Amino acid sequence: MILTFVGTAGSGKTTLTRAFGEYLEGNGYRVSYVNLDTGAKRLPYKPDLDVRDDVTAWEIMEEGYGPNGAIVESYDRLLPRVSEYISSIMELKGRSDYVLLDTPGQMETFLFHDFGVRLMENLPEPLTVYLFSPDILRKPADFCFARFFGLMIELRLGTTTVPAMSKVDTVSNIDEYRRYLDDIEYLTARLRLEPSTQGLLAHRMCLVFPELAPPTRVLYLSSKTGEGFDDLETLAYEHYCTCGDLT
Ligand code: GTP
Repeated sequence: MILTFVGTAGSGKTTLTRAFGEYLEGNGYRVSYVNLDTGAKRLPYKPDLDVRDDVTAWEIMEEGYGPNGAIVESYDRLLPRVSEYISSIMELKGRSDYVLLDTPGQMETFLFHDFGVRLMENLPEPLTVYLFSPDILRKPADFCFARFFGLMIELRLGTTTVPAMSKVDTVSNIDEYRRYLDDIEYLTARLRLEPSTQGLLAHRMCLVFPELAPPTRVLYLSSKTGEGFDDLETLAYEHYCTCGDLT
């Protein structure tokens, strides 16, 4: 199984790659780790495949590029080798139960650069986990945004994408988060009460969400406590073994 962790900087991708990998290994699975982040300084796991062996954003910055330009340039330089990466990942897949892909800190690098898109389009049925931290969820419209963003990733990468709230150990009112994220009808009804233009837009978007989105449950994960790891494992199993019913 190939699992790809995608999310904004600091959402917890790298920590989850290590923690979920350890959890799987503890359950007797063979796990391979792939680092796709040219800007990563230190990793808490030992990658079996690492883009930094070919290029790092840091060395490009030494050529005079700024931080963002260096990251884009690093993927420009990796692009001609995308087929080699696909082959290497397939090789790892052949000898592992799980291949975990840790993606660039800046999510847009993966979603907007051809390197990320072509890689994902050419891997067999990878499951993408879209990680978002509870910090981004402050008002009802934010919950709508998070659910739609997962859908946008699915649209862009062409892979089944599961939304997952990370760092659940940091919130005390998890039931409140769950009510908005799990129950789109409840969220839509709540958004109806929002007088702002933003609220109105979110309400209209959430009205059509059930029509657009495949039925997928939301995951609630903590790399600190391991909460939700059994759910992620079950969901990955369902994705591969029952052809995509992730409700
Ligand atoms: P980039 O390095 O920018 O790619 O970020 P990332 O998405 O890989 O996030 P990373 O794993 O580096 O985590 C960011 C911060 O969140 C670190 O300080 C982690 O220790 C912390 N963190 C990650 N997961 C959890 C979690 O489940 N619980 C808590 N409390 N903190 C977490």
